Amino acid sequence: MDRSVKFWDRIAKRYAKSPISDEPTYQKKLEVTREYLRPDMEVLEFGCGTGSTALLHAPFVKHIYSIDISSKMIEIAQGKADEQNIENVTFECMSMDALSVPEQSLDAVLGLNILHLMEDRDEVIAKVHRMLKPDGVFVTSTPCLKDMRWIFRIIVPVGRFLRILPLVKIFSAKELEASLTAAGFAIDHHWQPAKNKAAFIIAKKGN
Ligand SMILES: C[S@@+](CC[C@H](N)C(=O)[O-])C[C@H]1O[C@@H](n2cnc3c(N)ncnc32)[C@H](O)[C@@H]1O
Repeated sequence: MDRSVKFWDRIAKRYAKSPISDEPTYQKKLEVTREYLRPDMEVLEFGCGTGSTALLHAPFVKHIYSIDISSKMIEIAQGKADEQNIENVTFECMSMDALSVPEQSLDAVLGLNILHLMEDRDEVIAKVHRMLKPDGVFVTSTPCLKDMRWIFRIIVPVGRFLRILPLVKIFSAKELEASLTAAGFAIDHHWQPAKNKAAFIIAKKGN
C-alpha cells in the first residue's frame, strides 16, 4: 500500500496536467452516467484522483464524497473545487479499504480506473454492494488488461518487478462482469469502445 501511495503522490501533478486521452469516449461516459444521476443522490467516488469527474457530476446530485489514498491528488482536487466554488463535493484522503460508511446509505458509487488497482476486487465490489441502497448503481470504467494487447500484459509485471509501477491486477472484462454478478449486481450497461480501452459498466443493485 505504501508503495502505491508514494507512486500516486509522486505523479499527482503530472496526472493533473495530462490531457484526457480520448475526449469523445470520456464525454460519452459522463453522459451515460448522468442518465442514472438524480438531484437527491448521495454519491461516493473512490480513487477520485484529481477530482475532475466528481466536479463535473456535482451539479447533478446532492453530494459526492470523493476519496483517494494520495494526499497530493486530494490537495489538487480540493484546489479545483475551491476555484470553481463547488461546495457539494467533499474530498478526503482515505483508502477504499479503510472507508467505513453505513450499509445501504448511498445511491451511486463511482469507481473509475481503479478496480484494477485493488488487491482484492471481489472484496471491494462486495463492499460497494453493501453500501448501496436497493436500486443503487455502481459505475465503473476499468482497464481489463487480460483483453488488451500482449504488450500491456508484459509491461505490468516488468514494471512491478522494477518497482516503478503500483499494484496492478490483470483480468478480463468477462471476469469483471462475473465478479459483479457474483456480488449480486445486474449489469445494466456495458460498453467497451475498443479492445484496448477500459470496460465501462453500470451495475445495478436489486431491490
Ligand atoms: C488511475 S488513477 C484514476 C483517477 C481517476 N478516478 C480517473 O479516472 O482519472 C487511480 C487513483 O486511485 C487512487 N487509489 C489507488 N489505490 C487506492 C485505494 N486503495 N483507495 C483509494 N484510492 C486509491 C490513486 O491514488 C489514484 O489517484
